[in-house]
Amino acid sequence: MANTILVGAQWGDEGKGKIIDVLTQDADVVVRTQGGNNAGHTVFIGEKKYVLHLIPSGILRKEKACVIGNGVVIDPIGLVEEIKGMEKLGVKINRNLFISETAHLVFPYHRELDAQREVLKGKNKIGTTKRGIGPAYGDKAARTGLRMIDLINPERFERQLKLKIKENNEILKAFGAKPLSFAKVHTAYREAGDFLKKFVTNTVVYLHNATEQNKNILFEGAQGTFLDIDHGTYPFVTSSNTTAGGACTGSGIPPHRMDLVVGVMKAYTTRVGEGPLPTENNEISDLLHGMGREFGATTGRARRCGWFDSVATRHATMVNGIDELAVTNVDGLDTVDVVRVCVGYQIGSKRYDYIPNDIDVLTQCKPVYVDFPGWKHPTDKIKSWKDMPPRAKTYLKALADLTGAKLRIVSVGPAREQTIFL
Ligand code: IMP
Ligand code: MG
Repeated sequence: MANTILVGAQWGDEGKGKIIDVLTQDADVVVRTQGGNNAGHTVFIGEKKYVLHLIPSGILRKEKACVIGNGVVIDPIGLVEEIKGMEKLGVKINRNLFISETAHLVFPYHRELDAQREVLKGKNKIGTTKRGIGPAYGDKAARTGLRMIDLINPERFERQLKLKIKENNEILKAFGAKPLSFAKVHTAYREAGDFLKKFVTNTVVYLHNATEQNKNILFEGAQGTFLDIDHGTYPFVTSSNTTAGGACTGSGIPPHRMDLVVGVMKAYTTRVGEGPLPTENNEISDLLHGMGREFGATTGRARRCGWFDSVATRHATMVNGIDELAVTNVDGLDTVDVVRVCVGYQIGSKRYDYIPNDIDVLTQCKPVYVDFPGWKHPTDKIKSWKDMPPRAKTYLKALADLTGAKLRIVSVGPAREQTIFL
């Protein structure tokens, strides 16, 4: 393996957790570089289910080192809970986790502001996970954020937090919301800081030493291309760079050290939260929800579902430089008679083969579909490409061709064994 960036090629929840777990086999170090505990990466090992929000999925293989990079925003209370929860499930977390000193912190006022701004937006709300991610990145950009390095310095932390609580209580008051108690937040955060201290380090230096030793690094993307703050369907996006470039800025590893970009996409499309989803379709939504699939790992919300959108995934190849593809959830389409793929957008006589930036235009876009006959055969027990139903092969090859990258992995279920390598 080489240094590999793994990104979501759609709107998040592409099944990255599982693919990361599979690819981690060949990695030495796994790094999260953006987002926060808005992410939910689900991995099944045997009968056990693990849901990770901040800790890289690599933690499930005990010999791997895991890094939470500088580009991540960390809710320390949430992170402590997650570490303890994983330990309860038998996952050892000790010298295998490294947390960046310069990662920014998420505070209760960020979560409260996230919620208040959504209320204010009314029907134009983003549908955030209410984890305070946007306001935390906002503070980072405004240069008023607190970082991990502050949390583990008790004196400085107390001084800085006092000011932040004072400022944010004024803002919360203006929203008509309850002010926060400095003492309560301070005590809880100091406690979390004491617990996390032993993991906090200069991860840029750590990662550079790893590259000097020719270790293989896997960069674990969270969310997906169209939730990217620059390249997504703004303003219905998250507040970080979910695309490949975010792996560099969020870790401190330069672009020329990256060898491969793997894009993960579902065999159909989903989105959770508001915002345009051109191929959204009730029939496929009902089918997948009826199978008990497509409920969010972080918020439990039902995801919106639609047909595969190759306009979107081709765009994802363009902005991420995707070399290879992992297509997941193929088994979700096993019973479908006719499988549709969007190959263009149409408004009146105008046709688009890329995602228009004007959200009002995108909202009006009607998908242009090409239909494929369904394979109507269970794929969840298939172990090799040669045993895949020919119609499924045709469909998957078409997805890769339309997306413009090489098909490398096909996933037919949540388990490690349900993975087909090409
Ligand atoms: P935020 O990241 O909580 O601010 O949410 C912004 C948008 O990104 C909302 O539409 C969320 O539903 C979506 N989002 C955030 N994290 C994830 C994720 O991990 N998977 C899928 N959607 C996400
Ligand atoms: Mg998820």
